[in-house]
Amino acid sequence: MIKTGIEAMSFYTPHRYISLATLAEKHGIDPEKFSRGIGQEKIALPGHDEDIVTMAAEAARPLIDRYGTEGIDTVLFATETGIDQSKAAGIYVHRLLGLPANCRNVELKQACYSATPALQLACSYVARRPDRKVLVIASDVARYDRESSGEATQGAGAVAMLISADPKLLEIGAVSGLFSEDIMDFWRPNHRRTPLFDGKFSTLRYLNALIEAWRDYGENGGKAYEDFARFCYHLPFSRMGEKAHRHLAKSAKAALDMEMALPGMLYNRVVGNSYTASIYLALISTLENSEDDLTGKSIGLFSYGSGATGEFFDATVVSGYQEHLFTQHHQAILEDRVPVSYEDYVELWGTPVAKDGEELTFEVEARGRYRLAGINDHKRIYVDTRA
Ligand code: HMG
Repeated sequence: MIKTGIEAMSFYTPHRYISLATLAEKHGIDPEKFSRGIGQEKIALPGHDEDIVTMAAEAARPLIDRYGTEGIDTVLFATETGIDQSKAAGIYVHRLLGLPANCRNVELKQACYSATPALQLACSYVARRPDRKVLVIASDVARYDRESSGEATQGAGAVAMLISADPKLLEIGAVSGLFSEDIMDFWRPNHRRTPLFDGKFSTLRYLNALIEAWRDYGENGGKAYEDFARFCYHLPFSRMGEKAHRHLAKSAKAALDMEMALPGMLYNRVVGNSYTASIYLALISTLENSEDDLTGKSIGLFSYGSGATGEFFDATVVSGYQEHLFTQHHQAILEDRVPVSYEDYVELWGTPVAKDGEELTFEVEARGRYRLAGINDHKRIYVDTRA
């Protein structure tokens, strides 16, 4: 059988953040509730000239620079913060990256889950066409109503993955455990900018979906708990990953070793929820922050999207993977960020909306190569500042 999986992966997050200590002070909340209770430190904040498209292009750029565009004939864009009801966000990214015109483009949606079916579809496709590659992008801005319980779990980021029959990082296993149920734990009707959610209920359904998907994974011939060196979870906030890991270990009647999940949480703690990108940010964090050599080791992944669908699957780390990471680039992105005041956060939170074709021009805030210059006549104007 042809091996398929992730040839390379990279992430991007905007250069500004608000510290949860600042939010806690402003709202008179014990900062430990955020740092320990939900396990988060920072919320990444896009400028008004940044969105899912610019973050996606920034995330994918290093992959294109290192591996080229040859063979890429499909872009799968996963998001739950879509910018258009019709046009796929990946089409803008396709142009910004200079991808070949003979390429298919489509957007996928199922809350935080949709990058996982994108990855699975891409693996199936390159198994049939091993000369081709698929660019899978997950990009989201997690924004909740201010002063709601979700506010502290906001964030923003994108992950880009090159999927091929030459997986230099991770081979994706063929077995998946699946679970879906029709529930209202978190949803965003078309007329709303921010989601509606039942926070506590959502955490319980997440844990239930994990166990149901894990059971299905086992029944389909998946690996045993003991076969895994690391676990990555969808991370709406890192404490959720801790709860998930504890829950899974208990269900598998295994001794709890939190070190198996902690390396995956480091980036999320300082980025916040990035919805579709979150579990893949955890995967990058695992590869880049695990102290031991993971060659040949298995990683268990649990992807969850409210509404709800969960999937448990596995990945095996490929020999020489270290040479294909972007660790320094990623750490520079995180280290070069700047904190903003509460007042600036409020201003950034309120993204301007162009009403009825009105013209909006955005100041240069983005530090990256790509930006949303404005909106005019209902059209979003994306620019490559180096073109
Ligand atoms: P809350 O209700 O404000 O917090 O928000 P809480 O009172 O439950 O406290 C949280 C934890 O902090 C608790 O620990 C407290 O004990 C602890 P736990 O009982 O969980 O072990 N705590 C403290 N710890 C130390 N020092 C203190 C202190 N005070 C309290 N002083 C909630 C929590 C998750 C409800 C909220 O963040 C929320 O509504 N988030 C949004 C929804 C969400 O993220 N759900 C997660 C599962 S669904 C999912 O992952 C999908 C999603 O990503 C979207 C998608 O798929 O599209 C959201």
